[in-house]
Amino acid sequence: MENEDWIYTEIVKEHFLHPKNFLMGDESKFKYDAVGQVGNPICGDQMRMYIKVKDDKITDIRWKTYGCASAIASTSALSELAKGKTLDEALKIGAKEIDDYLGKLPKHKFHCSVLGHEALADAIAKYREKK
Ligand code: FES
Repeated sequence: MENEDWIYTEIVKEHFLHPKNFLMGDESKFKYDAVGQVGNPICGDQMRMYIKVKDDKITDIRWKTYGCASAIASTSALSELAKGKTLDEALKIGAKEIDDYLGKLPKHKFHCSVLGHEALADAIAKYREKK
């Protein structure tokens, strides 16, 4: 593994140390419309994503995880990217866009960036099932 593979960018560190839209405490206090959950079979980490939706747009979003630093930073970035987007637009935010937003994760941590996206896709699917 090359040296740069061990380096987190400043943006990754900022999102890991100060995660955006993290759901602190009791989830019932965030009046969400749907919640999605996934696990990463590679490492066993878990992610939950909560969305509020109005007129087909994500008006607010929260998440919580047992994931690693890269999963936390990636999902923090995703939550910022997804807020205000339509459900279809939010579904198109993939690992590459998150990775670009963060200025690149170490290559061996790239798989961590899919957790948030998959939890968001699950939340959107559950929201659409309810309608
Ligand atoms: S090591 Fe599990 S999500 Fe990163």
